[in-house]
Amino acid sequence: MDRPHTILSCAMSVDGRIDDTTPERLRLSNEADFAEVDELRAGCDAILVGAGTLRADDPRLLVRSPALRARRRGEGRTENLLKVLVTRSGEFDPRARFFSTGDAGAVVYTGGPGVDAARAGLSGRPASDPPAEVVDAGSPPTAEAVLADLANRGVGRLLVEGGGHIHTMFLTSGLVDEIRLAVAPFFVGEEDAPRFVLPGAYPYSAAAPMRLVEARALGDVAVLRYRPDNRGPQEREAGGGRAGADGSAGTGVPRTRGEDR
Ligand SMILES: NC(=O)c1ccc[n+]([C@@H]2O[C@H](COP(=O)([O-])OP(=O)(O)OC[C@H]3O[C@@H](n4cnc5c(N)ncnc54)[C@H](OP(=O)(O)O)[C@@H]3O)[C@@H](O)[C@H]2O)c1
Repeated sequence: MDRPHTILSCAMSVDGRIDDTTPERLRLSNEADFAEVDELRAGCDAILVGAGTLRADDPRLLVRSPALRARRRGEGRTENLLKVLVTRSGEFDPRARFFSTGDAGAVVYTGGPGVDAARAGLSGRPASDPPAEVVDAGSPPTAEAVLADLANRGVGRLLVEGGGHIHTMFLTSGLVDEIRLAVAPFFVGEEDAPRFVLPGAYPYSAAAPMRLVEARALGDVAVLRYRPDNRGPQEREAGGGRAGADGSAGTGVPRTRGEDR
């Protein structure tokens, strides 16, 4: 399948939570990390979230840095990324900042009755808003269908930015090329706080682990980058056993601070 290079980026607590249960968004990162993620965004063509994140955070999903926006302009691109929403129900606030901000428009992937619901919701938006299109990606929508459609739109690099259900959908599909985690130095400790992922059949099990390609401190936030590794266990063994970030003997994993993105 022709699909975008797909990067999943998430900030979490040490206990794997991506928010707490209060209405305010929990800050799980620091300025240096926000700046890196902004740079990561600026290098992508599209940015994707789930309807749960839209409802909880009303995110704008813009490139924050004027310099990065100018760089994109200079490259002949839009200043901001195409925004992508995934929803089963098609129920969301069409006045959300997701739809009213940016200069690259939005695509909503849904399926079944969600298609009509999403189209009805978007039909009443102000004409001055950036364009927003609804696409039937199956009922329920699949990561495969979303990625195939994005590829057809010319999206070469996609950034998936949450939340937990959407992480689960993409990671269980096996179609993620890179994971960037920022781990904040604290616990949330609440039973009902949103998790990084839900239970599911992940292809990256203990028998087929991912490759850790970077582990680095950014202030007191730990940045971890993983690449799924499609080598079988025997090949992996021949290549030096389990991956480690320190580049120590036998891991076969180089120090990757400067590795290409
Ligand atoms: N720390 C971070 O980096 C970070 C980043 C983003 C979000 N968050 C946090 O994550 C929380 C939201 O996470 P979440 O898990 O509740 O929401 P989510 O993953 O953003 O979205 C869940 C929604 O996606 C749709 N969905 C779920 N499975 C689907 C499937 N298989 N196919 C199509 N659509 C599907 C459903 O939409 P419908 O209900 O419309 O059917 C579902 O309600 C918020 O608290 C937010 O602050 C944290």
